[in-house]
Amino acid sequence: MIIRPRRLRKSAIVRDMVAETRLSKDMFIYPYFVVSGTGVKHEIDAMPGIHHFSVDTLIRDAEAGLKVGINKVLLFGVGERKSEDASSCYHSDSIVIQAIEALKKEFSDDLFIATDVCACAYTTHGHCGILRDGYVQNDESVEVLAQMALSHAKAGADMVAPSDMMDGRVGAIRNQLDNNGFSTTGIMSYSVKFASAYYGPFREAADSAPSSGDRKAYQMDFRNSSEAIREALLDEEEGADILMVKPALAYLDLIKEVKNTSKLPLAAYNVSGEYSLVKAGAKAGWINEEQIVVENMYAFARAGADIIITYHARDLVEKNWI
Ligand code: PBG
Ligand code: ZN
Repeated sequence: MIIRPRRLRKSAIVRDMVAETRLSKDMFIYPYFVVSGTGVKHEIDAMPGIHHFSVDTLIRDAEAGLKVGINKVLLFGVGERKSEDASSCYHSDSIVIQAIEALKKEFSDDLFIATDVCACAYTTHGHCGILRDGYVQNDESVEVLAQMALSHAKAGADMVAPSDMMDGRVGAIRNQLDNNGFSTTGIMSYSVKFASAYYGPFREAADSAPSSGDRKAYQMDFRNSSEAIREALLDEEEGADILMVKPALAYLDLIKEVKNTSKLPLAAYNVSGEYSLVKAGAKAGWINEEQIVVENMYAFARAGADIIITYHARDLVEKNWI
């Protein structure tokens, strides 16, 4: 036998030398759930290790993250004022806006702040846009979302991340930002976002579950992959700076396909349900948390993700898992 692939697996040194995929802490974005009040650090039941933070405790936690090199965050506001028309999503007193301002004041450009742009935490019905006649109205919702994006940019967000899946929202947000002097504020679009049961724990964390129906009339059908490419290319044409596939684990095929189709940087969102399943299995003693998490991260990177949004980010870096 001349060819023996095992020669390159013989020792850790040789395995490290020929490893085809590398992970770096620079790839990670760490999500935060921000609530009103002071002194709040409350663990989310369905997401062990992840907390609701008030702005003051958020700053302290972000500071600890920065010390180990977690310098990119994705902010979600929780317990925001809710209305039928979602107008509270762009009011200057929203919790997210307070958080952006406080973090920027404290850390300036040492911390890169991305914000989730979606109406579901601000509507009485919990849908991601304006609901009328039992249908989430596309163009009206896009107007509200563009205003929301602008309000975050004004507060100091480095990048806005629309997660609503309305048609044309990336272009509308790009226009709104540019027309108001925010041409340097980026857009990371949730381009390929499926209607998924993997968001279960998040909806508890963010208090954003739809009170009736589901999100299938706007988020994608998980039976489709050509459509995923169409969505990604549309967002690229409309001016997205970074594309995203979400969830990640069950959609590695699409991470790879989007990466091979568009040359934009690609993010994978390792969502709440993926996180909580790992935590539950580890708590039961059925799997090794560190090994499973590291294996999952390499799977995202191997499939083509340049950026990984994950609730595991702090553990990965702080505990030297990578
Ligand atoms: C808001 C939003 C959701 C997630 C990110 N932004 C929930 C949803 O669409 O229902 C999910 C994130 C996660 O599960 O970790 N639209
Ligand atoms: Zn939403």
